[in-house]
Amino acid sequence: MRGRYYISVLDLGKEETLEVLEIARHYKIERKAGKRKSDILKGKIWAILFEKPSLRTRVTFEVAVRELGGETFYLSPNDVGLGKREPVKDVARNLERWIDGVFARVFDHKVFQEFRDYAPNLSVINALSDLEHPCQALADFQTMIEITGDLGFHLAFIGDGNNVANSLMLMSALLGSDFTIACPEGYEPPKEIVEKALEMAKRTGSQINIVRDPKSAVSRADFIYTDVWASMGQETEAEIRRKAFQGYQVNEELLKFAPEHAKVMHCLPAHRGEEITDEVIESERSLVFVQAENRLHTIKALLSFLSQ
Ligand code: CP
Ligand code: NVA
Repeated sequence: MRGRYYISVLDLGKEETLEVLEIARHYKIERKAGKRKSDILKGKIWAILFEKPSLRTRVTFEVAVRELGGETFYLSPNDVGLGKREPVKDVARNLERWIDGVFARVFDHKVFQEFRDYAPNLSVINALSDLEHPCQALADFQTMIEITGDLGFHLAFIGDGNNVANSLMLMSALLGSDFTIACPEGYEPPKEIVEKALEMAKRTGSQINIVRDPKSAVSRADFIYTDVWASMGQETEAEIRRKAFQGYQVNEELLKFAPEHAKVMHCLPAHRGEEITDEVIESERSLVFVQAENRLHTIKALLSFLSQ
């Protein structure tokens, strides 16, 4: 599988993404029936190169590669010092000589382009960057499809136009689902993401909206999603952001404006009492642990798909 990559949601087309989701559905059924192991990645070695902390992404990837018969090793920020101890292009060209793929969690999304440019034979998967979190979007779409049975749903994202929101917006546009983000002025997804989403939506019929009012955003929602107001790397802005996002909390009051069947989603980790209340995250409407479970099935599916 040398040289395959999934850095942005748009690195796979609609049919390819649906195929990954279908493989994930099968993996989930198989795992529940006790079948975990295959040898799809036999003899393959992946590095997990993380500049930021992680629970779900790291553990599900480690489990996925083991269950597919491959091997991983973890490189922490202190081990490599990407772009600090040595240039990204050198790290990329070294790793390319030894291993099959890199699962990387980075700050600057451009790091991935350097990996592609300098190490084209190395497979690369984005485990989260400041711009996107495509593996999260795969798990979230598996979760939503499991409930609705199709892609004709409306996802409302309340809060920051961040990496998770960006990937959800792109995947909605790609697959033809409707997506609304309610965010304060200045916290919209970046222009480049919105433009790509709108362009894609023209082809798939998806409705993409950016609004200010959370109540109007949730009024037609089948799924209500939120994420932290200050992402990893934005800790110094936390106080300013807490003020900017007042009124954007997903709580029981906001849910009164949503359809009764609407479910609540969060990629985790959550800051309870900020973007979401403890009550809501612990409620019957919450899908957060299904999403977390589906991180495993979807990353196995993605690895299997890319190794075809
Ligand atoms: N949702 C998610 O990516 O969680 P981690 O940061 O724990 O990997
Ligand atoms: N937006 C969050 C997602 C964490 C999974 C962050 O980047 O910190």
